[in-house]
Amino acid sequence: MPSRKKQPSPAPFATRVVRWQRVHGRHGLPWQASADAYRRWLSEVMLQQTQVAAVIPYFERFLGRFPDVAALAGAPEDDVLALWSGLGYYARARNLHRAAREVMDRFAGVFPVRFDELITLPGVGRSTAAAIAAFASGERRAILDGNVKRVVARHAGIGGDPSTGAVLEALWDAAEARLPARGIEAYTQGMMDLGATVCLARNPRCDACPVRADCVAANEDRIAELPGRKKRAERKRRSTAMLVAISKGEVLLVKRPSPGIWGGLWSLPEVEASEVPKGAIALPPFEHAFTHFTLEISPYRIKGSDSFIRATGLSRMKESDPFIQLPISEVDSAALPAPVKKLLLELGAATEAPARSTRSRK
Ligand code: ADE
Repeated sequence: MPSRKKQPSPAPFATRVVRWQRVHGRHGLPWQASADAYRRWLSEVMLQQTQVAAVIPYFERFLGRFPDVAALAGAPEDDVLALWSGLGYYARARNLHRAAREVMDRFAGVFPVRFDELITLPGVGRSTAAAIAAFASGERRAILDGNVKRVVARHAGIGGDPSTGAVLEALWDAAEARLPARGIEAYTQGMMDLGATVCLARNPRCDACPVRADCVAANEDRIAELPGRKKRAERKRRSTAMLVAISKGEVLLVKRPSPGIWGGLWSLPEVEASEVPKGAIALPPFEHAFTHFTLEISPYRIKGSDSFIRATGLSRMKESDPFIQLPISEVDSAALPAPVKKLLLELGAATEAPARSTRSRK
């Protein structure tokens, strides 16, 4: 039998990821400037389900306004939500604010850096706690966010719905088995970077991958089937009518119940389609996509707030729900859901003097 040359075994998985990260990973992101736990926590929470490019301007505005955990804890929730407006998943902002207050109360204002303490904070799950601990104190912990699940599922050949049960457990085990003895910071960043720039969901760049040699998905031609698909119900549709009552340059807004969609934000009052007051003028309807459903929004312009008060008798609102009259000029900087803000800014621009309304608002 002809003797086959034995393939040299590759360096350990983590060693290859760390070496790759040093050369090809992302450096110079604003939160990488220091190991400060407050900044690391803030950035990791913002980066949950949101891409780096979208997060950067929010991160910088937040830090400018709340340079430390005491500043954040001392702020009114409205200010925190206003700065978060447009980033979505507002439970993150409410939890962020609660967590800041807990750090003041339970940790004497010193932001924790250990996994076991971090994971007790609202909005900080196992993967987020691990990332913050790794970056802020070098603690050796595995992360497993959506991107990293894809890397691990493919490399280890773990099929099935990666979001729950035995599959999720197997992914955590595989993630832990791959950790480096040292250099957890570069490794953690490297896993995030691999998932975001090489091991892409569609058209992964396997040629550029440092762990391709022993990747089960690449070697067994199973890239398209790994990770397994989440069993997701079809996205449901809901519809609502929003009332736009503008008088004397102010718009009537109500505080959304929390928890719930847009909880804690100021939004337009909503009614059932059958409850739209007579004489209301229909504005062009539009859609807004949430993770689990699509909301069809039909806005109606109504005259003054008196008609609103009459309308609320029929609406989903209770008389006791808080409301404000917000000057249109303050809409842009207030805590409103992004699509509502956009609608009001468009209406505001349309009612401005012609010389100004031709200006681009971008
Ligand atoms: N996604 C989640 N955390 C991240 C980080 N620290 N850098 C880049 N992308 C991330």
